[in-house]
Amino acid sequence: MYAVYLIFASMIFVTAQARYVMYLTGQHPEPPADVALVAGITHVALAFMSSRSFNQVSIDATSEAAEVKWPFFTTVNRTRTQFQKGTKVLIAIGGWGDDEGFEVAARTEEGQELWASNVARMVTDTGADGVDIDWEYPGGNGEHYLQPNHTNPTKAWQTTAYPKLLSTLRKHLGPSKLITAAVPGLPRDMLAFTSTTIPIILPSIDFFNIMTYDLMNRRDSQTLHHAGVQASLTSINAYLSAGVPASKLNVGFAFYVKYFRTDASPAGRKKCLDAWNINSGIGCPTGIMEDPKTGGDLGKTGGFSWHDGIPSEVSESFKAAKTSGKWDAERGGYGYWDEKENLWWTWENEKAIVEKVERVVKAKGIEGAFAWGLGEDGDEFEHLQTLNKAYNGLQAGRHARNEL
Ligand SMILES: *[C@@H]1O[C@H](CO)[C@@H](O)[C@H](O)[C@H]1NC(C)=O
Ligand SMILES: *[C@@H]1O[C@H](CO)[C@@H](O)[C@H](O)[C@H]1NC(C)=O
Repeated sequence: MYAVYLIFASMIFVTAQARYVMYLTGQHPEPPADVALVAGITHVALAFMSSRSFNQVSIDATSEAAEVKWPFFTTVNRTRTQFQKGTKVLIAIGGWGDDEGFEVAARTEEGQELWASNVARMVTDTGADGVDIDWEYPGGNGEHYLQPNHTNPTKAWQTTAYPKLLSTLRKHLGPSKLITAAVPGLPRDMLAFTSTTIPIILPSIDFFNIMTYDLMNRRDSQTLHHAGVQASLTSINAYLSAGVPASKLNVGFAFYVKYFRTDASPAGRKKCLDAWNINSGIGCPTGIMEDPKTGGDLGKTGGFSWHDGIPSEVSESFKAAKTSGKWDAERGGYGYWDEKENLWWTWENEKAIVEKVERVVKAKGIEGAFAWGLGEDGDEFEHLQTLNKAYNGLQAGRHARNEL
């Protein structure tokens, strides 16, 4: 009887401890209606407000309603009705390609003060529990990294300005609001996240959402698992060795599918066939997927969320990918090379989600997970259910053991 009581008590304790974060996006703003599916979620990050919204001097402090001052796809109060009582609601700022407002803000001390005070005002006005800072990425490698004035050397100053912007924000928000950060998953993008900068960043940040997805992207030239176990471990290990404690890390999961066109030349196809037969598809050449002069997307990659469904031009290929794909036990990823269409498919299916919880979250002693994004998994929410079971099950088990 006593033991049963302890297990029950510790399960309650779990929800207070382990973080389970969902992005809710303007593109796919509908969470599941079934409350059981959202019961384990501890934080919701509404994505995105633009980083530029906070650079203006004259944001009206007076009578206007929060929705007028801070137009957004939903409100914090409405969001609270869609989740369990006590779920923290954050406003995510920035996102891929939206780095300009951060740069203007970070450039000078006055810019930092203005931006941070405006963010704090927005948090007060909307009633949010805090903000998630998605600057992709301080120090370079953003959307425009090959364009004049956007190259990495022109952004080197940001590696010291980013920690300052965060500490200025902490000063304005105070200790009780949350500040979290979405941070790059690939070591090549971690320009502002080093053993020098991390100790300065840490005091401002409650937890980091490590984007352990899109780890294959248009800047690569051969196939990889875009959210695989091995690549995720590389990512997590980089943050741990730079000094982020495991207690502040969240591992990212992707509720969407990606595909890449592979090299259709005879020589390319030969390499891809070998890669498929010997290496679960890894190492098949794609050729150049990004314009080396402008950094523009050459249209060789695509993706879709579960909510959007499968574009018709690749639907046959994806059908084959689901039935004939391979689980790569060594690297921890599911993928399929379509030799008729010269397409590489990579996504987190049920097996991949379960293995990543086991081999990354559990193995590294991590207390946080998140997904991009909740509505992207509608209307079936199958991947959410898998992650709910694997992740919440793991944390419940851990805490039950700790208590007993
Ligand atoms: C949110 O709801 C609370 C409680 O009803 C209310 O006091 C507050 O003004 C609302 N906030 C906004 C921004 O509407
Ligand atoms: C690039 O930066 C320089 C120096 O800061 C500036 O003079 C120039 O106007 C910028 N060019 C563009 C296109 O923004």
